[in-house]
Amino acid sequence: MQQWDVIVVGAGAAGLMCAIEAGKRGRKVLLLDNGKRVGRKILMSGGGRCNFTNLYCSPENFLSQNQHFCKSALSRYSQWDFIALVQQHAIAYHEKALGQLFCDDSAKDIVEMLLAEAKAARVQIALQQQISGVSFADGVYTVETPELNRQCHSLVIASGGLSLPNLGATGFGFQLAEQFGLKVLPLRAALVPLTWQPGDKAVFEEISGVSLPVTAAANGTLFPEDMLFTHRGLSGPAILQISSYWQPGDDVIVNMAPQTDLNEFLATQQQAHPEQEVKTALAKLLPKRLVEKLLELQVFVNQPLKALNPKSMQQIANSLHGYIFKPNGTEGYRTAEVTIGGVDTDGLSSKTMEAKNQPGLYFIGEVVDVTGWLGGYNFQWAWASGWVAGQYC
Ligand code: FDA
Repeated sequence: MQQWDVIVVGAGAAGLMCAIEAGKRGRKVLLLDNGKRVGRKILMSGGGRCNFTNLYCSPENFLSQNQHFCKSALSRYSQWDFIALVQQHAIAYHEKALGQLFCDDSAKDIVEMLLAEAKAARVQIALQQQISGVSFADGVYTVETPELNRQCHSLVIASGGLSLPNLGATGFGFQLAEQFGLKVLPLRAALVPLTWQPGDKAVFEEISGVSLPVTAAANGTLFPEDMLFTHRGLSGPAILQISSYWQPGDDVIVNMAPQTDLNEFLATQQQAHPEQEVKTALAKLLPKRLVEKLLELQVFVNQPLKALNPKSMQQIANSLHGYIFKPNGTEGYRTAEVTIGGVDTDGLSSKTMEAKNQPGLYFIGEVVDVTGWLGGYNFQWAWASGWVAGQYC
């Protein structure tokens, strides 16, 4: 039987940060993971360059049943704190778009930085650990693996969500929460491509590869970014973002020309080029293959612009400013970046991340019902929630 002050389950972003902070406080910390290496999602994130935070990170960029829960951690360990750490380790980075910060070289830099910090804080790491059970008696947690039982006073669950099961994702954290009487809110894949209805697949797969700047809206939320047609459905950042707000059965309303008043555009084109065909005019704004497809779908009739009357012009503009897609579903956890839902924040202290009903048990990172937008927000939540738990566990 080994004795520890703190055992952290999950050596991802949140677990590493928490273990480092607890170790810095002089706690004897063990970081356990079921995989062969630490930080596997960090390594593959941001196309291998890790979008490690966002300059504009604020509580508004997160979904949670309790919108206020994330405020405390995000303000106590902000994007500026993580940027300072990255700078301290002389890791080169750049802003790609919309405040998203990426490593210049490789996501490995972030994992190496965290490993160096963990080593300095004397954190012990045990990999390829299969936890078979956890029990609690007399203020002590026992974490069982087939080889060894370990005990600790603080148990921190940082086992992440369900996305990418082939990278080690398990439902461990959710089951453990329920074992200790915490509520787990319904889980679903998010930041994930949406799939076609069977009929739409036949129509749209021909234009797979076409991408354009749009606004995508569902359930009253709207994102202005790029959208991509794929063989299987809709993807691209605008769709990944809206997938977090989309529920089965909902429409996704796409404005295909968000920067242009199409009615005004067509009127101007009509005056300047009355003999020009509608599809030629539209192809000045939209990808040509998409225009051909819209013609085939009879979104407009191809005729000289001079033949358009104000009503038909307005109809074309309305259709393209509010094109309605009816997705069948999502690609699911196989490709999702995150899991929405999770351990209900009502059961946790927003200051410490400790379970209110179970002293010494903490939940941090993605396992908690706090989900960020695409763009570095999810890592910032992992760093922040890990950091605060590390001050108390
Ligand atoms: P995380 O999933 O990172 O770590 C959990 C760890 O627990 C894993 O190592 C897992 O193996 C381990 N574990 C699970 N069950 C266990 C068990 N039973 N026993 C022991 N260990 C167990 N976010 C962002 O901000 N910027 C980005 O660029 C990206 N890019 C990105 C790309 C891809 C492809 C994905 C899938 C996700 C992203 N994300 C992202 C999201 C981000 O990766 C995610 O939100 C954080 O990694 C969550 O950190 P956690 O530490 O909570 O979980």
